[in-house]
Amino acid sequence: MKTVKIAMIGVGAISGIYLENITKTFHEIELVGVCDLIRERAEKAQQEYHVPKLYETMHDAFADSEVDIVLNLTRPYEHFEVTSEALKAGKHVYSEKPLGATLEEGEALAKLAEEKGLMLGGAPDTFLGAGIQTCRELIDKGMIGDPIGAAAFMVCRGHESWHPDPAFYYQFGGGPMMDMGPYYVTALVNLLGGVKGVTGVTKSSFPKRVITSEPHRGEIVDVEVPTYVTGILDFESGATGTIFTTFDVHYKQQARFELYGSEGTLLIPDPNYFGGQIQLLRPEDGEYREIPLMFDYKENSRALGLADMAKALQTGREFRADVQQTLHVLEILTAFEKSSAKRAYLPIIHRYTRRQPMKHNPIHGILDE
Ligand SMILES: NC(=O)c1ccc[n+]([C@@H]2O[C@H](COP(=O)([O-])OP(=O)(O)OC[C@H]3O[C@@H](n4cnc5c(N)ncnc54)[C@H](O)[C@@H]3O)[C@@H](O)[C@H]2O)c1
Repeated sequence: MKTVKIAMIGVGAISGIYLENITKTFHEIELVGVCDLIRERAEKAQQEYHVPKLYETMHDAFADSEVDIVLNLTRPYEHFEVTSEALKAGKHVYSEKPLGATLEEGEALAKLAEEKGLMLGGAPDTFLGAGIQTCRELIDKGMIGDPIGAAAFMVCRGHESWHPDPAFYYQFGGGPMMDMGPYYVTALVNLLGGVKGVTGVTKSSFPKRVITSEPHRGEIVDVEVPTYVTGILDFESGATGTIFTTFDVHYKQQARFELYGSEGTLLIPDPNYFGGQIQLLRPEDGEYREIPLMFDYKENSRALGLADMAKALQTGREFRADVQQTLHVLEILTAFEKSSAKRAYLPIIHRYTRRQPMKHNPIHGILDE
């Protein structure tokens, strides 16, 4: 099958694993060019990964007739401009999360993609990994009975201790729910189906953050977004989810991600990763037992969703991380803050149906047709 050609816009902290996996793991996608506002970043990637082209600006990439999909790896507040310009130029777009910095941005992008007849969607793609896919198989086979509810916690003191440019985590489009929530909410909707409404209570515990990582050590960032976000998810199935994400508290052990059913409880692996440990508690066992991972992609497989999009483009089948999913997730992520401001339950308008589960394929790096 003809390879699908990719242009990468944004060659920052997360680009390394994409560069690795696009060039070494996924055989049906090909990186034809890179672009970054900081030229040296693009130059370094070009040299290290033998990328044919370096674009001076994103518009040069969008004008390249060889490019099929634009991979948007810019910061959340930049996603809208990069994605909308790429769509206007006739390119399919795979975006890092979130789809946009607001629901309105996501809606405008979805409308533009539809008008242009282009594919749009994106991260996270960890839900396609062995961890969440195995959990899904267990749930679908009735191993926990009828799902009753879920609880998800992402608890930490923020990313300013390690990320080299962490300011965006506290700016428009940032915050723990917009940054880490996508992993949890995407996993939850894949496991339990769509959400019909949410409530939330949110706050920012600290008005300013001090960067402790290099090279911006000591710089102060004003906090523009809620950093302590609690939410309730009302699933269409009748299940009830509880989600809590924060950048405000000190925490050491792995936070919990649990799913409760009428016949058992499932401990779900950290959805920021592709693999992880799954534990199942059934009443007849009396204690948790470990369940082996039953699917491929246990290791860091970022770009798996991009490869899935490329296969969908080649064959016309469903793209699992498509705009319906990413827009549904964005609406949920943004609704907690709105609900908190209004002190009200908010219905979710953009509906969602569960994606096709992953299939067992004979060749690692080639997706199902
Ligand atoms: N860092 C992580 O661990 C991580 C993990 C998963 C997902 N993500 C997501 O990946 C995205 C990028 O995060 P990051 O940590 O790599 O950020 P970063 O700040 O390290 O990199 C972003 C890069 O995009 C470039 N850029 C911005 N606008 C551009 C434009 N118009 N043209 C060309 N280049 C442009 C910037 O110069 C910068 O180098 C975010 O959406 C983030 O949520 C990051």
